[in-house]
Parts: sequence; C-alpha cells; structure tokens
Amino acid sequence: MSFRIEGYVIVSADGMLADASHTMPDSLKFDGDKLFFEQALDRAALIVHGRHSHEQQPNSARRKRLILTGKIKALTVDPEMPNATLWNPDYASFEEACAFADVASGMVAIIGGPLVFDMFMDRYDTFWLSEAPQLRLPGGEGCFVGVPERTPHEVLASHGMTPGEPYLLDAEHGVTVTPWRAARRTT
Ligand SMILES: NC(=O)c1ccc[n+]([C@@H]2O[C@H](COP(=O)([O-])OP(=O)(O)OC[C@H]3O[C@@H](n4cnc5c(N)ncnc54)[C@H](OP(=O)(O)O)[C@@H]3O)[C@@H](O)[C@H]2O)c1
Repeated sequence: MSFRIEGYVIVSADGMLADASHTMPDSLKFDGDKLFFEQALDRAALIVHGRHSHEQQPNSARRKRLILTGKIKALTVDPEMPNATLWNPDYASFEEACAFADVASGMVAIIGGPLVFDMFMDRYDTFWLSEAPQLRLPGGEGCFVGVPERTPHEVLASHGMTPGEPYLLDAEHGVTVTPWRAARRTT
C-alpha cells in the first residue's frame, strides 16, 4: 500500500473547528474554502472521519470513506452508505480498513474531528490548515487535541511539520490555507 496522507481543517482565530455546541457554525463557512475543500476531496482515493464529521457535499455519495466509530468491532459496510466502511481502530488497523474498502494507493484525506486528526499526526505528508483570522469561537472545540492550550501551529510544528506559503481563499475575510509539510518528505 502506498498512500499520500493529507489533513484538512478550517479553524477560527482561536483554533476552533466547531462552536461551544460542537457544531460547525455558518460563520466558519466561506465559499473559497468550501471550493478548495471540495476540489481536494474530489482528488482523494479515500476520506477518513469521525461519525460527526461527514463533509455533506454534492459528490459525497461517490466517495469511498472510513467512518470511525466505537459502535462496531469488525469492519462493516455502512448500511446507509454503500461506499462507506465503519471502522473501529481498536479492532482493525488503518491498513486493514483500507484493504476492506479496496483502496491500496492514492491520496487519503483526513477530515476530522480532533481525535481523528490526532491519530494521524505523525503520518501526514501535508496538513492543509485553513484559517479565518477575523472569527473567534470562545469555548468552542479545538481543532486538535491540546488546542487552545497550544495553538494549531504549535501542535503541527511539534510533529515535525513546517508551513509553506499561504494561499488566499477569501480576501474579504482574510481566509487563507497554508500547507504544513512533514520535514521527512520532499513532495
Ligand atoms: N472546521 C472544520 O474544518 C471541521 C472539521 C471536522 C469537523 N468539524 C466539526 O466538528 C464537529 C465534530 O466533532 P467531533 O469531536 O464530534 O468529531 P468526530 O470525530 O466527527 O466524531 C466523534 C465520533 O467519532 C467516533 N470516533 C472518533 N474517534 C474514534 C476512535 N479513535 N475510535 C472509535 N471511534 C471514534 C466516535 O463515534 P461513536 O460515538 O460512534 O463511537 C465519536 O463519538 C462537528 O460539528 C463537525 O462539523 C469541523
């Protein structure tokens, strides 16, 4: 198996991916970022997320995905989504889950939430961090384990990743996406 592992998240200025009610508010949704995220997921061979982080996009049904859940033990096809595999990482490895989903290569997009991002923290080739600098979500849900005690930048740097040049996604709101790349990789 040969995968390229990429992470995707958009965070508020204080590092939150959701508000205090554990929902992603509309104030954290921007057309430029949505387009960037949709196009990235269209390139992915496989998407990986927790049970509350389905991306809800027009092409979602076509995409292969692993959905993390503690509700099952053995790898199972999701009865509601034929392209989705329910995966409990206590009972099957990532490689076993990929084999079950019949994916052996390509880009794997990790899209959250925080515990799922954390599981792959030492495996990202690139983590695409989108930031909305004009929005704060006090008391919200930090994008990574350890946020807001540490900033998302500090967390990514502590796992050996360094930032490239940011791309502007929304000029009016100053929203950017920055690729954080693992030093061990050259691409
Ligand atoms: N801003 C962004 O870019 C962004 C990105 C992602 C998510 N979000 C938002 O963040 C919120 C979701 O947060 P969340 O913390 O609930 O995350 P989540 O990871 O989507 O859902 C958590 C659930 O996933 C399952 N899970 C996660 N890790 C697991 C593990 N290691 N083993 C077994 N099961 C595991 C568990 O499901 P069971 O209960 O079935 O066991 C758990 O209850 C949503 O509002 C979402 O919209 C925002």
